[in-house]
Amino acid sequence: PLPKAYVTRRVQDAGLGLLPGRVEFEVWEKTVPVDREVLLEKASQVQGLLCTLSDRIDEELLARCPGLKVVSNYAVGYDNIDVEAATRRGVLVTNTPDVLTNATADIAFTLILASARRVVEANEFLRSGDWVTWHPDLLLGQDVSEAVLGIVGMGKIGRAVAKRAAGFSMKILFFNRSPRPDMEKELGARQVPLDELLRESDFVSLHCPLSAETKGLIGERELRMMKKSAILINTSRGPVVDQKALYRACSEQWIWGAGLDVFEKEPVPLDEPLLSLKNVTTIPHLGSATIRAREGMARKAAENLLAALEGRKPADLVNPEAWKE
Ligand code: GLV
Ligand code: GLV
Repeated sequence: PLPKAYVTRRVQDAGLGLLPGRVEFEVWEKTVPVDREVLLEKASQVQGLLCTLSDRIDEELLARCPGLKVVSNYAVGYDNIDVEAATRRGVLVTNTPDVLTNATADIAFTLILASARRVVEANEFLRSGDWVTWHPDLLLGQDVSEAVLGIVGMGKIGRAVAKRAAGFSMKILFFNRSPRPDMEKELGARQVPLDELLRESDFVSLHCPLSAETKGLIGERELRMMKKSAILINTSRGPVVDQKALYRACSEQWIWGAGLDVFEKEPVPLDEPLLSLKNVTTIPHLGSATIRAREGMARKAAENLLAALEGRKPADLVNPEAWKE
């Protein structure tokens, strides 16, 4: 008989189309995330799960799913999965790197430019009839060209952002857990301690994964170190930033503003104070939201799922320790 899988969202056909005939599968068809109870029930009956960052794959779920062999995440980040618990139980975990690198770097750069040049605020200004005359002081922003860009987390996406920044003649600093002399060389960038990056950067852009180490990485202390003219960009994961501290930083002008694609809680509640600030530009977790990136993610998620279920080593294995020949 074919192996069984549960798919927690209707992902693109580029991926789902690979499954018929190779796996017996069911898809959660609603646009809201699958209910926890349904997920627990469905996952307990299958060998493979193709899930998204809305689904919490934790010890409780894994304990109830002894037949589970693989959790294929349709995302590059996998902070929604307890990888340690999965590894302990021999469950393979996979993600979708590479295919979303450019799209995510593009959205980071979009937020850099939009925040610096106040694009969203200006759009609202014009449409509300406030534009009475061209004026030398109207909606002045910050220069992106020749500014200092501080990249926190020099992985694939951080590197792609740095390459874009080179076209704007930006000076690049970066902070990374392990030394990356190769990146210094390739990008003409300088690896520095986080505090130095915060003090010297005009734009600080976050590209680290969310982990115990990076949760709350940018809090009051860090925001107070930044320049008054600086802009914080977050396209990584919301909890990397202390959102309450960021509200104070932006409302009391410790920093100039922020551009955010991710939030501590998603969807961000409409009474979140940050949403009341003109110097904060917000978009709803769209980093990988291009047609090409999402098709690539669907394809990878399906291929990783199939590989694991058919006894082959998946290309994007997050926990190789769990792999047994
Ligand atoms: C999206 O946030 C991802 O991790 O792919
Ligand atoms: C502005 O539009 C200028 O021409 O300087």
